[in-house]
Amino acid sequence: YRDLIPEFDAFIKALERPHPSHLRVNTLKTTDKQLKERLSRYGCLLKPLSLDNAYSFYNLSTPGATLEYFLGHYHLQGLSSMLPPVVLEPREGELILDMCASPGSKTSQIAQLTANRAVIFANELNRKRLSILKFQLERLGVTSTIITSYQAQNFPTKMPDGSPLRFDRVLLDAPCTGEGRYRRIMRKDELKKMQEHSEKASQRMAVYQKQMILRGFDLLKRGGVLVYSTCTYSPYENEAVVDFLLKNRPEAELEPFSIKGIRLVEGVNYWKGMAFSRELLNTGRLYPHYVDSWGFFIARIRKN
Ligand SMILES: C[S@@+](CC[C@H](N)C(=O)[O-])C[C@H]1O[C@@H](n2cnc3c(N)ncnc32)[C@H](O)[C@@H]1O
Repeated sequence: YRDLIPEFDAFIKALERPHPSHLRVNTLKTTDKQLKERLSRYGCLLKPLSLDNAYSFYNLSTPGATLEYFLGHYHLQGLSSMLPPVVLEPREGELILDMCASPGSKTSQIAQLTANRAVIFANELNRKRLSILKFQLERLGVTSTIITSYQAQNFPTKMPDGSPLRFDRVLLDAPCTGEGRYRRIMRKDELKKMQEHSEKASQRMAVYQKQMILRGFDLLKRGGVLVYSTCTYSPYENEAVVDFLLKNRPEAELEPFSIKGIRLVEGVNYWKGMAFSRELLNTGRLYPHYVDSWGFFIARIRKN
């Protein structure tokens, strides 16, 4: 990716550092002030990140095993993984679909951003991951979700009575090759994935991502917003997927976005002999040497 990623040497250096510890305060259950106070009893320090309710934390050796964790006062989530729900801009009263939801980091964040006052379909295909999703939503006090288990690309477009099922907002945080998670200290499954990773794997993954993005877009109301995100760098899984949507759905328009305090790099409109629409420059790429977190790609699409 030397041709793709700016300041490539700094990028490689950033990968050699472990991912910092980040958490999101769950305002459905507590406040920033209360959590700070409670975690300080363990000697834990919270340092604010550039997003509301987001912190890096220090001196907490078992962050997934404290009383406050089990009470759902916070969620362990990397900063860049908190950005797609922010770009989605969910509002209270809306009907929202999270097409690939487990373990529920973004579903619960959407519930938090809408104070449990939207209706969120949280969809997850994998049975095992479905129980993790249920556990996390319950732990975090999320009471505004309907859990479903469809293949995202075949998510029903009609209600049982035959009326169309359409959403105000759709999040497609797609299954991907996960290159953005390659940093020093990885889980065993991530390490294995990295060792076996190939360009072909991205191309194979893109076949499903294209089916999913079409379905996600078709499930939108007119005027609705779809956010497509991955934690990978490959343009096959990112710009090429969004370009495929633009070519197949003329009503789709890429909207530019920015997030205060977050350095985004614009998407590419050319990769290995493939030319994409210029609109792809409106997508955002996150690199660990600019935002010290996972690598991510985010696109915000409006249905006209
Ligand atoms: C990137 S993860 C989602 C992470 C989640 N959005 C979060 O923030 O916690 C992608 C998820 O999609 C699920 N998945 C894979 N193929 C799917 C399909 N065809 N339909 C629905 N979900 C699928 C995977 O099991 C995985 O849980």
